[in-house]
Amino acid sequence: MQVTKTVEETRKQIKQWKKEGKTIGLVPTMGFLHEGHASLIRKCREQNDIVVVSDFVNPTQFGPNEDLEAYPRDFERDSKLCESLGADLIFAPSPEDMYHDPHAFVSIDTLSETLCGKTRPIHFKGVCTVVTKLFHIVAPDRAYFGEKDAQQLAIIRKMVKDLNFDIEIVGCPIVREEDGLAKSSRNTYLNDKERQAALCLSRAVKTGKEVIYTGADAKEVLNPMKAIIEAEPLARIDYVMMVDALTMQPIEKADRDVLVAMAVYIGKTRLIDNFSYGV
Ligand code: PAJ
Repeated sequence: MQVTKTVEETRKQIKQWKKEGKTIGLVPTMGFLHEGHASLIRKCREQNDIVVVSDFVNPTQFGPNEDLEAYPRDFERDSKLCESLGADLIFAPSPEDMYHDPHAFVSIDTLSETLCGKTRPIHFKGVCTVVTKLFHIVAPDRAYFGEKDAQQLAIIRKMVKDLNFDIEIVGCPIVREEDGLAKSSRNTYLNDKERQAALCLSRAVKTGKEVIYTGADAKEVLNPMKAIIEAEPLARIDYVMMVDALTMQPIEKADRDVLVAMAVYIGKTRLIDNFSYGV
């Protein structure tokens, strides 16, 4: 497995693989890899000749008061895991190699303004920008994203369609801990009490899945979910919403493909979870 730290050396290697007619799959990550990331890498390994993992804590998707500095990092462990999963290359650039001031940005408006975009107004602009850059640098045939970040996945699909990227976007199911908590690099911020409290998210998802039916009112689905979270003293709801699965706009009834998504603060840590429902 190769490790590249600059755009230039990555491009050089990619060009070589393209010349050999190899298909390339990309798994974009911010590192501190866990089983959720591993599931994407495994899927990528199955479907492509070459597996590229990017490992980059992207500064432009963090707001001024967010956790950019504190975000967990462990490159040694990440590269061992990638190697064991059969990756061919990890691309781990420095922020200086990726950005200069002033820099061009890519953004997708409407879908980025609801759900997480309300609390994190610049987040998806940063995500779209870095993913566009990675797509241009790695030029993959396929790219892999988790349904854990469902709004991100919807935005990337829209971006790829609107801006004519010739890349297949592959969505992968949420990987959970045995007790239901969705795996996340941010789970490391939780102390023991908070870790227990965080189970209210997956319990709410489970309940939402049980009560939803075609034509159900949003309130019928969301109220029992909110009740579970509100009963947990360490939890504070950012949002619990039902939206159209394509546009990310709030809807009143589950009368089409929907996403039921939530963000909840457990102490200072903001966690997300969701489920999809198709009619
Ligand atoms: P990061 O949070 O590291 O996640 C990288 C990819 O792993 C994302 O597509 C995310 O949805 C997926 N993932 C994380 N936890 C998962 C889980 N429990 N089950 C399934 N998939 C999971 O998302 C980002 O990084 C960044 O925004 C990025 C796209 C890399 C752009 O900087």
